[in-house]
Amino acid sequence: MTDQDERMDFPFDRTSPLHPCPHYARLREQAALADIRMPSGDPGRLVTRYEDVRAVLSDARFSRAATLEDGAPRYGPAPQKFKTLLNMDDPEHSRVRRLVSREFTVRRVAGLRPRIQQATDRLLDEMAAQGNEADLVKALAFPLPVAMICELLGVPYEDREQFGEWSDSFMAITARPVEQILAAQIALYQYLSGLIAAKRENPGADLLSALTQISDADDGRLSEEELTFLGVSLLLAGHETTANQIGNSVLALLTHPDQLEILRKEPELVPGAVEELLRLFPPGDELLLRIALEDVEVGGIPVKAGEALLPSPGSANRDDRHFEQAETFDVRRQQVDHLTFGQGAHYCLGSGLARAELQIVIETLIRRFPTLRLNAELADIPRQTGRLVHGVSRLPVAW
Ligand code: HEM
Repeated sequence: MTDQDERMDFPFDRTSPLHPCPHYARLREQAALADIRMPSGDPGRLVTRYEDVRAVLSDARFSRAATLEDGAPRYGPAPQKFKTLLNMDDPEHSRVRRLVSREFTVRRVAGLRPRIQQATDRLLDEMAAQGNEADLVKALAFPLPVAMICELLGVPYEDREQFGEWSDSFMAITARPVEQILAAQIALYQYLSGLIAAKRENPGADLLSALTQISDADDGRLSEEELTFLGVSLLLAGHETTANQIGNSVLALLTHPDQLEILRKEPELVPGAVEELLRLFPPGDELLLRIALEDVEVGGIPVKAGEALLPSPGSANRDDRHFEQAETFDVRRQQVDHLTFGQGAHYCLGSGLARAELQIVIETLIRRFPTLRLNAELADIPRQTGRLVHGVSRLPVAW
């Protein structure tokens, strides 16, 4: 839809629960930037082409910290005041990220792999015991990342319904009333703050405990507030994104039986297939808002200081200028430089964990359920709307 100034309402309607907006190809052809109106009503400029999305995300003149300032254009109607890692600029961002990275290491994620496998096996045992059909979102896509982020952070799994409810409101843009979103922000902050205080007294082997103890000669320690915001963002980012990506990925495989068959015969292709699924079926295009700190050009188009840019990985990942036959889903594709985990300073801190979960879930599901099929028409599968990250909300399968 457009208004007098030809601004398009964002997010655009999808015509399928699986594919991003059908106008992306046209927008990329027309110009590097498309003028949009965000759900807050504020104007923004959607960055549509691969090279420009990559360039904006790699350039410190496009700020995340400025998105928190009073009067800055914002994505959703609820003000966002949380100074999480994602909402910091340098030098603060580098300092906090270096401190976290000392503990959130490749080794810690590798140590979780056997636990991911066990949890996947347990959930699939329960699914198999229920008969020969299930909702895969409820049975696997959601509970697995929740269990893993609880284990990583040392958050009690028994609390999952409570923090799941807050997290659901936190991720809402227009799907919940503003007051409910703000109340959830406060509740999550208080919940993490209490948990961290307990861990400081009685540290365990988990990541939050480790983060309460770090101290670095150059970078100092994480302040109480930094640590609490970090806990909130790890808890939220750690399950919402991966859960949606699992649902979207399984739906894509079940609706592309030729590709699924290749993976059944050659399971060693699963890690590459996971990258291809991340490229084509990401959990949304709403996440990457930046504010220009000075007048600058993007793709040859002038952008003024203070304007909001929304880089779109969903469009960039399908850009024919960068990927050959970009719209084709090909589990054998070798090129894996998609932008679903972002780019540059804020590149997803949890990408290693997300990849481990996606690889184990897809390999195990295909192996254990050789006759798995979609138990509904594609057009009838509901996809969430009005949220920061999203995917299918139900995925009926049978075997
Ligand atoms: C498929 C799953 C995931 C996707 C698609 C995803 C996507 C992203 C993207 C696009 C960014 C960059 C945002 C920006 O530049 O504005 C990001 C940052 C981040 N992600 Fe993820 N993520 C996923 C899983 C995870 C997991 C499992 C965790 C934690 C365990 C996590 C924690 C974070 C954090 C803390 C940041 C902020 C990093 C920084 O600002 O330096 N993510 N993620």
